[in-house]
Amino acid sequence: MDFPSDRLDGRCVVVTGAGSGIGFATGLLAAGRGASVVAADLDADGLAELAAAAAEAFPASLEVTTVRCDVADAGSVGELFAAVAGTGTPLRGLANCAGITGDQPFDELSPEHWQHVLGVNLTGSYLVARAAVRAMDQDGGSIVLVGSGTTNTPAAGLAHYIASKAGVIGLARALAKELGGRGIRVNTVSPGPVDTPLLRARMSDEVVAERSRTALLGRLGRPQDVALMIGFLLSDQSSWITGQTINVNGGTAMT
Ligand SMILES: NC(=O)c1ccc[n+]([C@@H]2O[C@H](COP(=O)([O-])OP(=O)(O)OC[C@H]3O[C@@H](n4cnc5c(N)ncnc54)[C@H](O)[C@@H]3O)[C@@H](O)[C@H]2O)c1
Repeated sequence: MDFPSDRLDGRCVVVTGAGSGIGFATGLLAAGRGASVVAADLDADGLAELAAAAAEAFPASLEVTTVRCDVADAGSVGELFAAVAGTGTPLRGLANCAGITGDQPFDELSPEHWQHVLGVNLTGSYLVARAAVRAMDQDGGSIVLVGSGTTNTPAAGLAHYIASKAGVIGLARALAKELGGRGIRVNTVSPGPVDTPLLRARMSDEVVAERSRTALLGRLGRPQDVALMIGFLLSDQSSWITGQTINVNGGTAMT
């Protein structure tokens, strides 16, 4: 009996939102496991930090390729995947971690803000996943989209965000059905509260302290907690897992 490895050697893996938080941790983890990582974000400084962190932590690994990209823009996503082709390594993984939020009471939610959040979170997932599927051709791969625990336990002021993330979960399930025959697995990781700039923009220090105190495991998530699940789903260790929504939340949905 053999057990597949968590290594990603010989594979190109695209990580979006790689300039911060969960995407940053995922990019670092994939680089450490031997992938040829193409890291994408709007934030060029964050990408430079990731490339430097990977070079320092894993000097023997391949260099991280960085591409400034807006996942909500089809042309920009096209440029990202031109860079993927340029690596010369077959694309076998996508982790779409780019995402935005922003509290807005529903009766004040403007069509522009609605479209912006849907555009990045949902249309971005579609654009990046479609480009990845085209690049994976007939040899298969693993696509990981990022949902949110708020689809299970909604919070006020996040209707646009929660609607976008519910769409992401539906998209992943539909793609798993359509693409399984081509060896492409598609799953969603739904994080609970993870201590990143996205969360800090919504929660004061006091709220973070209270949420940590009442959490089952006594703390919020760290980006690495989610990256480890994404890494598992990108690897052959999860070769019989597709169409699933995996909650990584330290049990917060139970409290
Ligand atoms: N932090 C949490 O508590 C939490 C909980 C549930 C879900 N999530 C989801 O996890 C994902 C990562 O969030 P995070 O907490 O690491 O946030 P983060 O803000 O630390 O990182 C998100 C990254 O996405 C990038 N980005 C934003 N818009 C982009 C665009 N149009 N194109 C390319 N890049 C873009 C940002 O520049 C940033 O570097 C998001 O999809 C978020 O919705 C986070």
